Amino acid sequence: MHAFAPLETPRLHLRPLAQADVDFVFRHFSDPAVNRYLLDQAPLASREEAQGIVDFFVQPTDDTYTRWVLVSKADGQPIGTCGFHKWDQRNRRAEIGYDLAPTAWGQGYMGEALKTMLSYGFTDMVLNRVEALVYPENTASVKLLEKLNFQREGILRDYFYHEGHFYDHWLLSLLKSQGD
Ligand SMILES: CC(C)(COP(=O)(O)OP(=O)(O)OC[C@H]1O[C@@H](n2cnc3c(N)ncnc32)[C@H](O)[C@@H]1OP(=O)(O)O)[C@@H](O)C(=O)NCCC(=O)NCCS
Repeated sequence: MHAFAPLETPRLHLRPLAQADVDFVFRHFSDPAVNRYLLDQAPLASREEAQGIVDFFVQPTDDTYTRWVLVSKADGQPIGTCGFHKWDQRNRRAEIGYDLAPTAWGQGYMGEALKTMLSYGFTDMVLNRVEALVYPENTASVKLLEKLNFQREGILRDYFYHEGHFYDHWLLSLLKSQGD
């Protein structure tokens, strides 16, 4: 069992996703702009689906997935989420996922959140390797990762199947030795 800690950046509180976030999760993950490149899941169609996501992340028996909500210190509003997936403790690696509401794009918020989250991953979770899967046309996401020193390892061909099509994805990674 691993209790995920709240984290803090200069402009954000990162707090573990909680039951009180169901409305935000529904609003956020039903927004077509947020979902455009999230090809591993369909946009949410109901509040019940949002409740299912929140239940999954707050469920204390699964410690291989976690999600923080990015909360603006300026006004206390949630602006996005980020977290680790598929934490493999034996091999000391995990994947990351992240998404911001469009009104918060282009202001460096996710870079700020990921720096803190990655540092937590490499120290508290003792990770050695962090992976990210990104649709090649998601330029903002690839740039964001490369600014954080992630390296492209290759294309995962036809990796996600979404609404009748297969989609290639870049596999990028950051090692602890390059990320501290
Ligand atoms: C990906 C995402 C988190 C980026 O967050 P952000 O805080 O807006 O990122 P930044 O402002 O630091 O922008 C990252 C870089 O991409 C660039 N960029 C942004 N949009 C771009 C676009 N459409 N085309 C080209 N470059 C773009 C920015 O200029 C910046 O580069 P720079 O620092 O050299 O100027 C945000 O766009 C998002 O949440 N998208 C929807 C969900 C998603 O796709 N998540 C990732 C799935 S892998």
